[in-house]
Amino acid sequence: MTENSIIEFQIENNDEITNIIKSKKLKYNIVTYGCAMNEHDSEQISGILEKIGFVKSDFENADLILFNTCCVRDNAEHKLFGNVGALKERKSLNKNMILGVCGCMMQQKEYAENLKKRFPFVDIIFGTHNIQNLPSMIMDALSKKQVVQVFDTDGYIVEGVPVKRVNSFSAYINIMYGCNNFCTYCIVPYVRGRERSRLSSNIIDEAKDLVQGGVSEITLLGQNVNSYNRESSDLSFSSLLKELSKIDGLRRLKFLTSHPKDLSNELIETISECSNISRHLHLPVQSGDSEVLKNMNRGYSREDYLGLIDKIKKQIPDIGLTTDIIVGFPGETEKQFENTLDLLKQVKYDGVFSFMYNVRKGTKAENMEGQVPIEIKRRRLQELMQMQNEISYSINSSLVGKRFEVLIEKEARKENQMCGRSMCGKLINVNCSKDYIGKYVKVIIESAHHNSLSARMEEENV
Ligand code: SAH
Ligand code: SF4
Ligand code: F3S
Repeated sequence: MTENSIIEFQIENNDEITNIIKSKKLKYNIVTYGCAMNEHDSEQISGILEKIGFVKSDFENADLILFNTCCVRDNAEHKLFGNVGALKERKSLNKNMILGVCGCMMQQKEYAENLKKRFPFVDIIFGTHNIQNLPSMIMDALSKKQVVQVFDTDGYIVEGVPVKRVNSFSAYINIMYGCNNFCTYCIVPYVRGRERSRLSSNIIDEAKDLVQGGVSEITLLGQNVNSYNRESSDLSFSSLLKELSKIDGLRRLKFLTSHPKDLSNELIETISECSNISRHLHLPVQSGDSEVLKNMNRGYSREDYLGLIDKIKKQIPDIGLTTDIIVGFPGETEKQFENTLDLLKQVKYDGVFSFMYNVRKGTKAENMEGQVPIEIKRRRLQELMQMQNEISYSINSSLVGKRFEVLIEKEARKENQMCGRSMCGKLINVNCSKDYIGKYVKVIIESAHHNSLSARMEEENV
């Protein structure tokens, strides 16, 4: 197998495995942490498990429990160890029980080894490049062998993996994997391998099949989705979007996450020209200060970013904008933090995901001078969140009385309310029944909150 080669998924001894699993009537449950990429990996893992005879169940009744981990921030290891440890007794009481841990955290070998040592009763441990080998790992676990499989590779592309999607109307499609950017704070390039793009023909076929099967909303996924095919003669990201947008019956084409350094004029034009391409851009800026951005290795300055936002707003006036921010990056001064606050005031994002900088082992920033004390990070985060709350609330308040089309996704927290999103990414709670899940409804906004809007339904729009 060569790097970046394409592998066709297949299961060896499928009948044998399936017979065993079906005769034991085994049930599975997956606990997923992290980003959309991990959620989609879990959909593939579910697809494989169901293909070999497992039936999905809730956590309490499952014979196979898999934790699909994330390690981008926070003290995730601590939480995971607690959750795994709590299953020790249950495992000793159910002789069929299989316990597995996979995902980004396990791709770091020292974490996988540590988990194996501390919890010898965990049966399967595997990394992000090993999902396609799950059937044989399950076979080993069934014959009471512990498996640890963490491939050391820059990555390859596996086609034809069965997928069990979470819902029938909206679907994820992975179009590229990995990341080559090595932002100095970030662990992702180490746990997801090098940047590699799927063939456009495979993506288009998958999208057509999905739409034929009733899906009306597709979200394209990639760590830097707009860097798709950056170094290939296959379709550019914009051309791929144009091709996909022609699929009859595809009402919404979304994509996550875009990197500012690769956001082309062609992409801005494509979004403005195609009415079924989402009017929402998640464009992480990370910091509003050029020096900090340089230290982060982001590949753009404050001015570049603001210039980009200007262009986007001019050409796509109904665009919804969100971003990610890190406060307290090593060496960040008060003045530099204020530059970030100032950028938020200028851009006026609809929403911001903000985080305190967290040391990740093995990254460049780990050993940078000027690590910022936790109290300062906390205070900066608080200040930033408070300011953004006011901005979001003021934008949302200006939308009261306006009309939107919402794709109803699921039940909201409040009783008798469903929630969904507008084309520009706004989270909207609507007074309607469960029957509307998966449908598009026209609504009128009645009230505004910090992170969402409440609306009443005007008409169904099938
Ligand atoms: N590929 C995307 C982001 C992936 S990680 C991009 O480049 O924008 C998601 C977010 O987690 C990042 O945007 C960043 O804001 C945050 N993050 C990543 N590493 C972090 C760290 N070490 N400490 C705090 N936040 C971090
Ligand atoms: Fe991490 Fe940067 Fe890659 Fe995003 S672009 S995944 S922040 S290294
Ligand atoms: Fe986390 Fe891995 Fe996604 S580290 S954010 S689950 S790529």
